[in-house]
Amino acid sequence: AALLALPAFAQSYPTQAISLVVPFAPGGPTDALARLMVEPFSRELGVSVVIENLGGAGGTIGVGRVASARPDGYTLLLHNIGMATAPTLYRRLPYDPLTAFETIGLVAPVPMVWIGRPNFPGTNFADMLAFIRENGDKVNVAHAGLGSASQLCATLLQAQIRQSVTTVAFRGTGPVFAEIMGGRIDLVCDQTSSTTPYITSGRVKAFAITSAQRLSSLPDLPTATEQGTPFEVTVWHGMYAPRGTPRAIVDRVNAALRVTLGEPRLIARLAELGIAPEPQERITPEAHRAFLEAEIARWRPILTAAGEYAD
Ligand code: MLT
Repeated sequence: AALLALPAFAQSYPTQAISLVVPFAPGGPTDALARLMVEPFSRELGVSVVIENLGGAGGTIGVGRVASARPDGYTLLLHNIGMATAPTLYRRLPYDPLTAFETIGLVAPVPMVWIGRPNFPGTNFADMLAFIRENGDKVNVAHAGLGSASQLCATLLQAQIRQSVTTVAFRGTGPVFAEIMGGRIDLVCDQTSSTTPYITSGRVKAFAITSAQRLSSLPDLPTATEQGTPFEVTVWHGMYAPRGTPRAIVDRVNAALRVTLGEPRLIARLAELGIAPEPQERITPEAHRAFLEAEIARWRPILTAAGEYAD
């Protein structure tokens, strides 16, 4: 195709399908969030938005692909807190989160849940921690790779209780559920966006939610803190375009994102998963960038201190 001058691109954008990269396998929380958003988001943009699952290396492979994509608004990224943890966890990342992207807006904070295989011994968070303390490296904890949210949660818990387990990396947490239900993986800490249906249908055991308060979507599940072990983790999500994407396109995508996240049907479906979208004032490129900077700075010392548990 002929290379159009960027202002012309920007003026008529979008005229073709947009690829929304999810840097994890299908069936996990990032994918679940993207799939819920895609219908109103496509409608707002007037073209189809196609989810592209590019998992691997804790999301850094997919993120790297977007970093080097053409900055024409046809490749976008939905990613989580890993954008802020990977710079500390990787000696060499193929991108710099702060210079390789245009931030479009924050999307939604999502709490996590510690879940286990159906025949995991015990019923509550204290039982889970006792089992880890007794069995140490014999316990298998899945995550979505170094730099993923589930890996962050696993690292924080190991550091807090000063007990290492054996971690097993997947290309996303989507593929983990079958392993948990089949008893081949003991535990995973994953977001309510994907764990909720497995918990409510009783297919996995749930031990603790990592939010400050219980969720109305999982009213019987106590927080870790109320079970005597203060442990809070919230995963945030943001949308990105490759650096150099014209401001007019970023603004167009941002406007569609704002409408999408204010849509009553989406809000209702997210609420069933214990999720409320970000307030409108945080769905801006500037708020997103400032938050990303703050998060990179916030996690650096914590992850450096937890270093021996971070894999
Ligand atoms: C994560 O751990 O970062 C996500 O759960 C991975 C995913 O969305 O599959």
